[in-house]
Amino acid sequence: MSGIIVYASRYGTSREYAEKLSGLTGIPAFDRRRVPELPKEGPVVFIGGTYAGKVADLKKTLRGFVPSKEQPVIIAAVGLSDRSEPESAAAAEAEIEKQLPPAAAAQAKIFLLRGKIDYSVLKPFHRLALALMNSMSARLPESELPPESRIITETYGKKADFTDFGALNGIMAALSESGALTQKAAER
Ligand SMILES: Cc1cc2nc3c(=O)[nH]c(=O)nc-3n(C[C@H](O)[C@H](O)[C@H](O)COP(=O)(O)O)c2cc1C
Repeated sequence: MSGIIVYASRYGTSREYAEKLSGLTGIPAFDRRRVPELPKEGPVVFIGGTYAGKVADLKKTLRGFVPSKEQPVIIAAVGLSDRSEPESAAAAEAEIEKQLPPAAAAQAKIFLLRGKIDYSVLKPFHRLALALMNSMSARLPESELPPESRIITETYGKKADFTDFGALNGIMAALSESGALTQKAAER
């Protein structure tokens, strides 16, 4: 199977999604630091954690990447926020599109996956960033909080896991539609 799954993961959630997708599709998964260049053939899937609204290392990984005509490009952002409301999903997708080079943006399909958090293992810098985000949210009335601020407040200081491997079905369907999967993988 040609193509690649590349992940950028600080605490392991994007890696877990990437490895699960790799098992389902047969497409190999690699940490972005081990991938010097993206292939010009086969699907390119990037999965990365969301930090303060940006997908970790997305810009860096896709810099200068011009996909071949009809080469499937899939971007999956892993975050705590619930993006089931179409309006909220559209806002997150628009934000992600801005982080892509134009050629890749034109061809990319974007997916929003949910991740997890455990304050007991957070790096001090991330702990501080979340404390700041949480105290900024505390100044706003709850009705005005966007989903990403609300979930950070709800989970502040705790351990919460919203991982849902079933959400990979959407990516499987997109890969299948583009003809990138073997019959066996498409049936999984
Ligand atoms: C400092 C920090 C900022 C975060 N900012 C966001 C955010 O803006 N939106 C969101 O949905 N999740 C946010 N998260 C949650 C992460 O996206 C979530 O923990 C994800 O599972 C991380 O994926 P990874 O372990 O693959 O890096 C944040 C987490 C940390 C530690």
